[in-house]
Amino acid sequence: MSEQAPTTVIVLAAGGGTRMRSKTMKVLHPLAGRTLLGHALHAARGIAPDHVVAVIGNQREQVAEHLAQVDPDVVQAVQEEQLGTGHAVAVALATLGEQAAGTVVVVYGDVPLLEPETLEGFVADHREHDRTLSVLTARIGNPHGYGRVVRGPDGAVVAIVEERDATDEQRRIDEINSGILAFDLAWARDALRGVGNDNAQGEYYLTDLIGVAVAEGRTVGAYEIEDEIQTEGVNTRVQLARLAAEANRRIVERHMLAGVTVVDPATTWIDADVSIGADTTIQPGTQILGATTIGSDAVIGPDCTLQDMEIGDGASVVRTHASLSVIEAGATTGPFTYLRPGTTVGAGGKLGAFVEAKNTRVGPRAKVPHLSYVGDGDIGEGANVGAGTIFANYDGVNKHRTTIGAQARTSSNNTFVAPVTVGDGAFTGAGATIREDVPPGALGVSAGSQRNIEGWVARRRPGTPAAEAAARAAAGEHSDDDVQESST
Ligand code: UD1
Ligand code: CA
Repeated sequence: MSEQAPTTVIVLAAGGGTRMRSKTMKVLHPLAGRTLLGHALHAARGIAPDHVVAVIGNQREQVAEHLAQVDPDVVQAVQEEQLGTGHAVAVALATLGEQAAGTVVVVYGDVPLLEPETLEGFVADHREHDRTLSVLTARIGNPHGYGRVVRGPDGAVVAIVEERDATDEQRRIDEINSGILAFDLAWARDALRGVGNDNAQGEYYLTDLIGVAVAEGRTVGAYEIEDEIQTEGVNTRVQLARLAAEANRRIVERHMLAGVTVVDPATTWIDADVSIGADTTIQPGTQILGATTIGSDAVIGPDCTLQDMEIGDGASVVRTHASLSVIEAGATTGPFTYLRPGTTVGAGGKLGAFVEAKNTRVGPRAKVPHLSYVGDGDIGEGANVGAGTIFANYDGVNKHRTTIGAQARTSSNNTFVAPVTVGDGAFTGAGATIREDVPPGALGVSAGSQRNIEGWVARRRPGTPAAEAAARAAAGEHSDDDVQESST
């Protein structure tokens, strides 16, 4: 679009959204891993505009902060009072300054399914027909509440009439104004001055620009789309869930068509910005969220929640809850594994059943197979960490690291009191509490040799079932179960 006159997208996001009944501003509610506003900005950026202006008003500190985070180049225009869509656009144009020119495209911050390609097609059509103003329309089953597109006998658009201002005959029109408009900026600046608020809502209607353009004999036209859900806005949480489900259906379908097997689309939730390689299989009950990337030939699920993860080719991730971590190629996690931020499972490595890891690097082919907590650790290549291991990383004040060397074999039920290092190829004994470093190739043991105190139960726990069983054993009898077994 570089040879064209500059393009400005105005995103309207000042309205209140009271029907959400939420502390959170409506346009900041999430859908498919972006806020509603984030989706509108994504569509806006898709046409590579020269400027994007967001009109904010209600709960504007929240919205301004979000804009600064997700798209700091957006110009923020503050509409102190929400006097209508026409007023909102006038505020945006005033913020842009007098020298701004070119084409303006208006979109809404609460319409999340609009696709960049649709907006692109709309703007291209607007330019091809050299119109002063174009409106994106759709025909819908129940047009109640929308502005209706009124066409003249020759089919030309002559006005948009709001529901509350419409005649009975106009209310029967099923072609609606999506709210998405394109028009000439310099013209609109003047034309908006001629728009009043003499209507049922006492608002300055942006849609009144159409009447102005028609009266001036300018070219006005409609661009009708079939896929009406792209024009739908969110007003309640019921609509939010419905549009989220449809967004998800479309995202899952896109991945399937690109070569990903999704066993159960109905229970698979994938955010908009996730990427997945071909021939990966997604098992049921899986949420793949945020900026997660997954390679090819991996198996994900069943029952995973993966937030902002990087997962390599051929990895197997089963019943795993994980965020901000890396699972490298061919590595496996699960079932029932919890990866907290900063964890890396190296190529071919493993975090097994009931293992929690945090800020830990598991080296290539290293394994933590069972029932362990490994926090703030470095586990060397090919090492094996025994069942029931705890990296005691927290001394109550500071966190410390545990280092396990390459090819080390640590035994079951070990506690590593950090900071501590087990050298390459070293072993530890069962039940050891390792407080001192273990040199490479050494065996670290800490439990003393076993001592049996004879008769302790009879003296200290007399009359208990244990004492009775011990007495029978001493008398050469067997327990009841053993008697029955030995008699068969
Ligand atoms: C508007 C259109 C209607 C269209 C419908 C599509 C007008 C007059 N009406 O009606 O023809 O069918 O959208 O959904 O344009 N906003 C501001 N500042 C304001 C008023 C609104 O920023 O002063 C924003 C809102 O946050 C929202 C958008 O503009 O994102 C639309 O406003 P809303 O009040 O929902 O308009 P509708 O009455 O639905
Ligand atoms: Ca609305």
